[in-house]
Amino acid sequence: MTPTQADARIQQLRAEVAHHDRRYHGQSAPEISDFEYDRLKRELADLEAKFPQFRSEASPSTQVGDDRTEGFVTYRHRERMMSLDNTYSETELREFDARLVKLLGRPALAYVVEPKIDGLAVSVTYEQGRLVRAVTRGNGVEGDDITANARTIATLPLELKAAPGAPPIPELIEIRGEIYLTLAEFERINRLREEAGEALYANPRNLAAGTIKQLDPREVAARKLEIVLYGLGACEPAAARPATQQGCHHAVRAWGLPTVERLWSAQGPDEVWAAVQELDGLRDHFAYATDGAVVKLDSIALQREAGVTSKAPRWAMAFKFAAERAETELKAITVQVGRTGVLTPVAELDPVQLAGSTVARATLHNRDEIARKDIRVGDFVFVEKAGEVIPAVIGANLARRRPTCVPYVFPEKCPVCATPVIQPEGEVAMRCPNYECPVQVRRRVQHFASKACVDIDGLGIAMVDGLVEKGWVRSIPDIYRLRRDNLLSLGKSVEKSTDNLLAAIESSKRAELWRFIHGLGVTHVGAAASKDLARRFGSLEALTEAKFSDFVGEKKASVIEGIGETMALAILEHFNEPRNRTLVAELAALGVRPMAPAQTAPTGTALAGKTFVLTGTLPTLTREAATEKIEAAGGKVSGSVSKKTSYVLAGEEAGSKLEKARTLGVPVIDEAEFLRLVG
Ligand code: IVH
Repeated sequence: MTPTQADARIQQLRAEVAHHDRRYHGQSAPEISDFEYDRLKRELADLEAKFPQFRSEASPSTQVGDDRTEGFVTYRHRERMMSLDNTYSETELREFDARLVKLLGRPALAYVVEPKIDGLAVSVTYEQGRLVRAVTRGNGVEGDDITANARTIATLPLELKAAPGAPPIPELIEIRGEIYLTLAEFERINRLREEAGEALYANPRNLAAGTIKQLDPREVAARKLEIVLYGLGACEPAAARPATQQGCHHAVRAWGLPTVERLWSAQGPDEVWAAVQELDGLRDHFAYATDGAVVKLDSIALQREAGVTSKAPRWAMAFKFAAERAETELKAITVQVGRTGVLTPVAELDPVQLAGSTVARATLHNRDEIARKDIRVGDFVFVEKAGEVIPAVIGANLARRRPTCVPYVFPEKCPVCATPVIQPEGEVAMRCPNYECPVQVRRRVQHFASKACVDIDGLGIAMVDGLVEKGWVRSIPDIYRLRRDNLLSLGKSVEKSTDNLLAAIESSKRAELWRFIHGLGVTHVGAAASKDLARRFGSLEALTEAKFSDFVGEKKASVIEGIGETMALAILEHFNEPRNRTLVAELAALGVRPMAPAQTAPTGTALAGKTFVLTGTLPTLTREAATEKIEAAGGKVSGSVSKKTSYVLAGEEAGSKLEKARTLGVPVIDEAEFLRLVG
């Protein structure tokens, strides 16, 4: 490879890795398997090593992925949260040990082997034994403050336990671990989503990550998140810190926190490898998805001596288990049409056993993915299910390709209504633009009537299908135009169920406003955002009239916490469409009177026009309570500090926002002063 070729490939890989980092960490919606991702990253690191002239600090190979998302206040970790180097090869695992032996000048090193939990990294801080904060890894330096959400995790104690014989509780301690969802809970939630016609989460990890970033802790509490802790960050006083990794596990467990189910101590590389294999045999029985083993030097003193690289410690290595994979024939590719017209290609497979179940269908993601992997009908394809519960086709076995296989041509017309499909700019998905497409109509109405939205009992998926097929329902308002005689004609003995259905439809007219907002199916607007919008706008009509400035303020700051620019634009675009406005008017004309939430609109004006940024922990007020007070007095809360910020309300352990306020000369106030201000 010439340097010019290497440069081009490096640029391409950097863009690809950065894209997948955003999908995985930022949006909790990865498009490729971990294995494929690791392969891209490895190719990039290898090229950068071979062509050092193209190295860059900004390369994603030298950084940990960034999970920070809009709507959360960020918090600076006292001690950095690092990532782990990983490998799929036994040889490389042995090389890791050999490197350490050489570096530390010792013959045989003692390690701890632990399960690698496939969740999302979190740091929880206890002060004087009390839980004060939970923060995601973020970019390793600062992460999102998810304290309110983490408090809903039943197994995370709010206070550490001081037990006889247990190590004393340090004054301050950051404990690191992973938030996850059990498979059972994952399946329960996906079932509900399926009923609501919403996209399914591919695996428990994505769902856990998506859940912890809900802006409304009540929604988090409705999903049973779990946590497991495996390491320590900052510890004060430093002497209170256990001297070994085993000691950390022991202390964390003794203080009452959930720890890994099993860990091994291993002397030298052979014992390490034996432990890794034993773990592989046991991991199916663990409560969490385990995608590998983490091998750590046991002695903390030796860990210090070994040190760290730009993103990962030299004293630890993750060995990842290759995903379970099967090879089978791709019989056909069918294309499904979703509520918003998105066309999803699905692989119809010769059924094959994979990770304990029979797989007959797998996602092919989108047109570009099929083209990129050059997957053809009649090919033998690899199907993977790496902790990923929805199997995916990851590639074709080219060695077995028959000469008769031709490249797949994605349909140019909707498979349901034959309308030519389009690819909206900037999207990977192909869409059927026909709003009247029968599938879209069905899914739209199913979504509206589902439990997650207006919740009309008796109007399930099958019923909606029937009504649409009969032509009685062509739009959401048609639900409220259904005629008893029509419904009765559906069959014998339906009188009672018809009356029940009509009663449920009638009473749904007074459902809570957020349910209607969610039911309208505006892109990006989920239940949590719908609640925020309901509180802010108070009626569907007011929402249809919303302006950009109702959402986005100076320097792109969110006016409504939790509603960022992307969502704002989607809402405006939705109601810019005359038929969506008509729909709202039709609902009103049909007697729909959504129940508005308790009014929290400003009652005072003491803080009119003032913008606050909150940072750190306040002595008595929670973040939510402070926000309520500010809003009730006519002020606004924003997530980031700018020159336009009126006050930064800072509590203990305020992070980078405080520094920024000082640099910009923005007044910083404490809780006492704040309470005087709001009266
Ligand atoms: S130790 C500085 N131990 O895997 C050491 N990490 O791929 C960093 N993870 O960011 C972490 N199980 O979120 C450690 N037993 C375990 C783990 C573990 C899962 C996660 C962690 C880390 C990621 C790296």
